[in-house]
Amino acid sequence: MRSLLDIHSVTKNEVYTIFNQASEYLLNPKDDVLVGKNIVLGFFEASTRTRISFDVAIQRLGGKSIQFLAQGSSISKGESFVDTIHTLNQYRIDGWIIRHAYALSPHLVQNETNSPVINAGDGSHQHPTQALLDAYTILQHLGNLEGKKILIVGDILHSRVARSEMELLQLLGASVGICAPGTLLPKYMEIPNYFPTIQQGMQWADAIITLRLQKERMVSGIIPSESEYQQYYGMNEKLLQSFPHVLVLHPGPANYGIELSMECMNYANVLIREQVKHGLAIRMAVLKHCLT
Ligand code: CP
Repeated sequence: MRSLLDIHSVTKNEVYTIFNQASEYLLNPKDDVLVGKNIVLGFFEASTRTRISFDVAIQRLGGKSIQFLAQGSSISKGESFVDTIHTLNQYRIDGWIIRHAYALSPHLVQNETNSPVINAGDGSHQHPTQALLDAYTILQHLGNLEGKKILIVGDILHSRVARSEMELLQLLGASVGICAPGTLLPKYMEIPNYFPTIQQGMQWADAIITLRLQKERMVSGIIPSESEYQQYYGMNEKLLQSFPHVLVLHPGPANYGIELSMECMNYANVLIREQVKHGLAIRMAVLKHCLT
């Protein structure tokens, strides 16, 4: 058994093992590899896609999920994160899925419990299963990631998805490009191919991943205005019609009218719904890979 805390610790072989298993689960979404196992869904920060897909994935693999949501828990009475983990750990837990607003919280759970932990998103640090499902989705359409050009657009500074994806896409042989205002770029990050506008980026890219503006992690004054942001970095119908071969992804949840217009959802090369579907199969495959 192993943890999945970040993309850095995953090999190319493991990635393709997970992808192959996900393809099998898309065809036949049932298995019994988690029968008898209790897995905590520890969500200390909001989620729809990641939490529900992990929950369904555990059920389809025959396991039992134990839901912990910070809202409504004794955290509101002052119980600490570590005390909460030790309390839950008394119930014979076989694995943990942890989302938290603070980076490295899943690592802390692994250290405290010595059990396998899957990182479901920690602060601005990592979101490995999102990167896996996005790379898998692109791969299904392009056939191969070797030498393909993938542009990541938007709020790189606060995005755990961007950090995981840059590592994973490069591990799989893709070239990564970045398009973002300077205020939404981390100072220490090496930027491989920079594009100042989404229009310029689309001329280069085979696929683009637009990111949510993470207002909950922002200080004020970081972008001039949402409408200006939309003008330079937002996806719209005109761009989709000018570049019909470019795949468009968004990890969700989307701010329509900022990262992309609502009408974009009607285009066949916008893969947002498909990403959600693949998320379940990828998370089933990750659970099998890590917990059996
Ligand atoms: N992409 C993603 O992590 O979505 P949720 O916050 O809904 O889980």
